[in-house]
Amino acid sequence: MMKVTMSNLTVLINKNLYQYIQSSPLDTDLEESMMYSLKAGGKRIRPVLLLLTLDMLNEDYNKGLQSALALEMIHTYSLIHDDLPAMDNDDYRRGKLTNHKVFGEWKAILAGDALLTKAFELISNDTIIEDVIKVKVIQRLAKASGHIGMVGGQTLDMQSENQSVTLDTLETIHKTKTGALLNFSVMSAVDIAQADSVTADLLNTFSHHLGLMFQIKDDLLDVYGDEQKLGKAVGSDETNHKSTYVSLLGKNGTEKKLKHHKDLALGCLKNLPNQYDPSKLVDIVDLFYSRDH
Ligand code: IPE
Ligand code: IPE
Ligand code: MG
Ligand code: MG
Ligand code: MG
Repeated sequence: MMKVTMSNLTVLINKNLYQYIQSSPLDTDLEESMMYSLKAGGKRIRPVLLLLTLDMLNEDYNKGLQSALALEMIHTYSLIHDDLPAMDNDDYRRGKLTNHKVFGEWKAILAGDALLTKAFELISNDTIIEDVIKVKVIQRLAKASGHIGMVGGQTLDMQSENQSVTLDTLETIHKTKTGALLNFSVMSAVDIAQADSVTADLLNTFSHHLGLMFQIKDDLLDVYGDEQKLGKAVGSDETNHKSTYVSLLGKNGTEKKLKHHKDLALGCLKNLPNQYDPSKLVDIVDLFYSRDH
């Protein structure tokens, strides 16, 4: 049995992520563009969180592997589209040129589309989890990724450029564009492990604080981060006239907000029923708090 650590799970995810992008029987090479962004790296924090949550719930993490891979495909698609000239217009991602810079815009759009749909193909082919649970997970992923989830949040983010937004609106943007997929990481594990409702409620609230922490830190790193470590340009938010926590609250106010959500996330973990050992999720909270990339 493999020891369940963040780094072992990252290796497991990377080992399995690429095998589903086969060469096309059509006379195209779209998979080259899909693979380019998948293989560019990335922290794999969402799939790792899903598998760690399952493990904490005393469930076999292998039951979440297909969902975890699907989630990373959707996340990667969201980044390819986020970087397009029509959106954030960024040239670097994961330490490499962005997808559209290498393959051109139409192919970057289609590579994103194909990764999105491949994700659902992958989960629906899963033979490890029961069909009823599988449908629940598919519904949860569709909702988290789409209209009122990540895509809705990206829409709100784009339409708020050049506007002064309230802190409430900013929180809604962060909860959706980033929080929704992180909520899926945690709550799909709850679905698969069929955890009780007290545990489910605590983990749901936990994931909301985690989602906010992640994007608050992303906003901080966009101003104060190191491009080399981040693998993407800093200053993108200012260039695009985005409202961020830093632009609304300043550096100190933003760091306070980050700490506030850290404490609330840790509070949820502390209140979990004591058959669960949340120590690896505590490590995730610490990582979200202090990460530099
Ligand atoms: C970047 O996500 C986009 C946001 C939601 C802030 P990550 O920081 O997880 O990016 P990768 O996957 O490690 O490249
Ligand atoms: C994007 O947020 C979140 C997504 C859904 C992709 P950002 O636009 O802040 O992400 P980065 O900073 O480009 O990674
Ligand atoms: Mg963006
Ligand atoms: Mg961006
Ligand atoms: Mg950002």
